[in-house]
Amino acid sequence: MIYKIFVTRSIHDAGINLLKANKNVDLEIYERDQLIPRKELLKRVRGKDIILSLLTDKIDKDVMDAAGPQLKMIANYAVGFDNIDLKEAAKRHIVVSNTPHERVNESVAEHTVALMFALSHRIVEADAFMRAGKYHAWNPHLLIGSDLVGKTMGIIGTGRIGSGVVHRLYDGFKMKIIYSDVARNKELEKTTGAKFRTMEALLKESDFVSLHVPLLKSTHHLISTKQLNMMKSTAFLINTARGPVVDEKALVEALRNKVIAGAAMDVYECEPFIACNPRDIRDLRKMKNVVLTPHTASATIEARQAMSETAGKNILAFIRGKVPPNAVK
Ligand code: GLV
Ligand code: GLV
Repeated sequence: MIYKIFVTRSIHDAGINLLKANKNVDLEIYERDQLIPRKELLKRVRGKDIILSLLTDKIDKDVMDAAGPQLKMIANYAVGFDNIDLKEAAKRHIVVSNTPHERVNESVAEHTVALMFALSHRIVEADAFMRAGKYHAWNPHLLIGSDLVGKTMGIIGTGRIGSGVVHRLYDGFKMKIIYSDVARNKELEKTTGAKFRTMEALLKESDFVSLHVPLLKSTHHLISTKQLNMMKSTAFLINTARGPVVDEKALVEALRNKVIAGAAMDVYECEPFIACNPRDIRDLRKMKNVVLTPHTASATIEARQAMSETAGKNILAFIRGKVPPNAVK
């Protein structure tokens, strides 16, 4: 049979080339280089067997209905899959896959460490200072930051990305590692001396707190006022996971009141907005102890080709009657 596949936006070519080389594939790619509008998505999925979706495409009941009963697979081009209604997909026996390729995990881990450095060494502020022509003379007190070496790293979620962050910081910067997770991670404990902590203990002890959990009901607003108040006033929060894991209103309020020292974010609760209301947006933009990136933690050529290839391979496995290597359960 011929599998009709709809790709919601042009992506790096590794996976696309794999699909094009398969004679059982009829490939259609949304031709405009923009997020596909909802109406267009509903129209274009009609009659398709497989949808290759981005994390920005909400694939819910309505999209599945619009596609029709022949829809068999949703191949998400992302590690996260909170944009897909898994229950609805399971009900219809639709297979869902994601792209947790090692290269993607490494890219996100690197980006997390980059954000930590940007905060602790005040790189973004320093760059803005130079560009503004403010550097007139060397000054022993200018832009004083703090080092990572010897500090305590609190990791919440020690899956592949969280563990990748830990290895970099333990091997490279001799950080003391503590972690919180739904289960003990003996492997990480053995290789990095990481110590398990309750969330509360972790928040109280860490100099840096980094989030690496998926967005689930149980992780929504995992970090809110109560948790921020437990953190050291010298501590930094880093979020490269999913925006709604942090109660952003509470975070901005904590930053305003200097409850914590600073924050770096790659994802946002009301993405693409950096906060959910105009006042928070305005204030965040002015805060010098905040570093913001536009959901680009996996935006390296290595990671994006790996994501494309992984999505393509998941689809080809499915077409060949196999369980996709990255089927989501
Ligand atoms: C990016 O956020 C991803 O989930 O791959
Ligand atoms: C700083 O530039 C130093 O030489 O200590």
